[in-house]
Amino acid sequence: MKKSILGFFLIFSAIVFSCQEPINGLEEAAIIPLPSSIQAGSGAFELSSSSRIQLIGSSKNLSDLGEFLVSKLKPATGYDLKVGTEEGDIQLVINGNDDSETYSLDVEKSKVTISASSEAGIFYGIQTLVQILPVQIESSTVVEESWRIPVGKIEDKPDYSYRGSMLDVARHFFEVEDVKHYIDQMAKLKLNYLHLHLTDDQGWRIEIKSWPNLTSIGAKTEVGGGEGGYYTQDQYKEIVDYAAKNYITIVPEIDMPGHTNAALASYGELNPGVNLPDGDFGTMKEGKIDFDILDKNPQPAELYTGIEVGFSTLATNKDITYQFIEDVIREISEITPGPYFHIGGDESHVTEKDDYIYFVEKVQEITAKYGKISIGWDEIATTKLAKGNVAQFWALEENAKLAKDQGNQILMSPAKRAYLDMQYDSTSRLGLHWAAYIELDSAYMWDPATYADGISKADILGVEAPLWTETIKSRADIEYMVFPRLAAIAEIAWTPTPKREWTDFQRRIAVQGKRWDMNGIQFYKSPKVNW
Ligand code: ACM
Repeated sequence: MKKSILGFFLIFSAIVFSCQEPINGLEEAAIIPLPSSIQAGSGAFELSSSSRIQLIGSSKNLSDLGEFLVSKLKPATGYDLKVGTEEGDIQLVINGNDDSETYSLDVEKSKVTISASSEAGIFYGIQTLVQILPVQIESSTVVEESWRIPVGKIEDKPDYSYRGSMLDVARHFFEVEDVKHYIDQMAKLKLNYLHLHLTDDQGWRIEIKSWPNLTSIGAKTEVGGGEGGYYTQDQYKEIVDYAAKNYITIVPEIDMPGHTNAALASYGELNPGVNLPDGDFGTMKEGKIDFDILDKNPQPAELYTGIEVGFSTLATNKDITYQFIEDVIREISEITPGPYFHIGGDESHVTEKDDYIYFVEKVQEITAKYGKISIGWDEIATTKLAKGNVAQFWALEENAKLAKDQGNQILMSPAKRAYLDMQYDSTSRLGLHWAAYIELDSAYMWDPATYADGISKADILGVEAPLWTETIKSRADIEYMVFPRLAAIAEIAWTPTPKREWTDFQRRIAVQGKRWDMNGIQFYKSPKVNW
């Protein structure tokens, strides 16, 4: 390379580097989701190898939170900060004992204080602190940098209490490590519920000890005929525990009575109807076909690897079906500390309407028996919802309205805005577009409280962004579909709508993109952003 060209590149890289210099004031911070209030001061706190993390107040996991902060700072700074109750210049203060997620982050020149009345609040304060450090803090190796944190005060709390994402591990199976990686990314965005879509026509992904064929047969394959897989109960518990350490609650979903082909392939007796071989007219009893016997012995369905929906149903009129469901709900509830159990209920196109109503009402009773609140896709609002149960709006506004009119809350996942499997545009290499093309601006610019006719803020439990995986096969595929849109949905769920502005989000998401690059996240470089 000629010297003059080399010189040019050196100057050029210095300019690029300077774009990533520490921010001068807190008003330049690129925090996602945007906090409720940011007051910028002047000057900065400088993190150094002699900084100490001081724990103030008592709470079971406060020292773990201190260690979590160390683990966030150590790779890039090389500092192995001490954590303890001795005087320190980074203070984590628990000043109460409730389930509020509110926190404040106070930066002075001589100290940084994160205060909250709950551990979750401290956790969110830590996530915000990391986001106001230079982006190089994301580096996995030591970087020479001035680790300045601009002086100021942030007061923050979420707009919605349920801020979620869903991962469909049924259409394609994802290993425990991939789910943990997803949890890590969710936690940075202050999301607090991970809904696992554990079963569908193409696969059953959770060990049920009392019904072993569900996994020995029902987990054998996936969309496209790949080898599938499932979580043992121990692995599921590992996911639950990992999520809990990130202040995320797992919501398990067993989708029923439709989307059940994998279960129907595992156990013939769960299938409805009379399955007779050609030409066999069945057992006769007193001159009539004995439907009683025939109904009990239908053949198992074939495993399915396509992507059609709406063709399967559990038998809704058999005791064995409800015994099966009770066993499944009991076993999963025993290893699920969170309050919710998702019962699916969508697209049961081959279940008679009356049978559907009977079924969903009965299943809600079973989840209640095991201490869980039922969530179901919006179709469940066509049945009588038990008090406190939740309808997840994805398709039909009239169903959301039915839930509201019954006095039940709604989880907002409008497919046209919040479905992460929808293509960005017609050139997207992955995804589907039956609901919409969803570019980043479309994912960002909507308000849950005004989106559906007749539904207002008080009716809404929260917001969830589902990722269906018919076309998604790998961690890289997940990252391409989920980021940057998950950040948009996280901000919708956290930041009050009047505070959100697309142009400001464009600025902040560009900085977040640098962080994702440093984390090796292969996100979609939307043309709507100057990355
Ligand atoms: C759904 O997308 N079938 C809930």
